[in-house]
Amino acid sequence: MTEGRVKVNGQVVRELGSKVDPKEDVVTIDDKEFTLNDAPTYLMLYKPAGYLSTMRDPHNRKTVAELVSISQHPGLFPVGRLDADTTGLLLFTTDGDLAQRLLHPSFEKEKSYFARVKGTPTQEELAALKKGVALEDGMTAPAKVRLVKTPSSEKESAWLAAVGPAKGGDSIVELVIHEGKKHQVKRMLEAVGHPVLALFRPTFGPLELTNIEEGKWRYLSSEEIDTLREEVKRQ
Ligand code: URA
Repeated sequence: MTEGRVKVNGQVVRELGSKVDPKEDVVTIDDKEFTLNDAPTYLMLYKPAGYLSTMRDPHNRKTVAELVSISQHPGLFPVGRLDADTTGLLLFTTDGDLAQRLLHPSFEKEKSYFARVKGTPTQEELAALKKGVALEDGMTAPAKVRLVKTPSSEKESAWLAAVGPAKGGDSIVELVIHEGKKHQVKRMLEAVGHPVLALFRPTFGPLELTNIEEGKWRYLSSEEIDTLREEVKRQ
């Protein structure tokens, strides 16, 4: 330690007993990163549009890896995917076991989406979405569907703003699904004649996108981690 081989955030530290935050500080020994804490990491990103939900792209397009702190958390990966133009909550973890359980097809978690769509779905079209629509890879499972006219809370106002105002005949639909077919929400709404113009995901299982700005991430609180663990325990 006193030989100057240890650095915290790039600064040599010589004092024995110096304090570091294992989640925040980057500690190196002889310039090699040293992981202080093997406990898994859980964080949520408010994914902006224009980023692929993958840690690496062979074509060098922008990925979510640029937005989270992978150097501090080797092994971090996103749990599931959002399309490049979809915004909202993307969970990241280093906990492969939990991720696998969260994504298991027989126990997919509920995810809600706010979609700004072209035109206004009729009651029949909303009922069809609720019941399940035929996509080329099969019927969708029953979903919760709501035409959102006025936000019911401050939180919902922010979530509605994320898909932009419904103007010029557009409308906003909230869809809650528990499957993860590719482009599912876009394909469901397209199937009933209302293509999606903007898509935002405010929740993932028990998690809600709160206290976070677009493009930023934050660690899950210990309560949020506990609720996630409880959810997968019930499988
Ligand atoms: N459904 C979609 O169509 N796109 C997403 O990004 C997520 C769900």
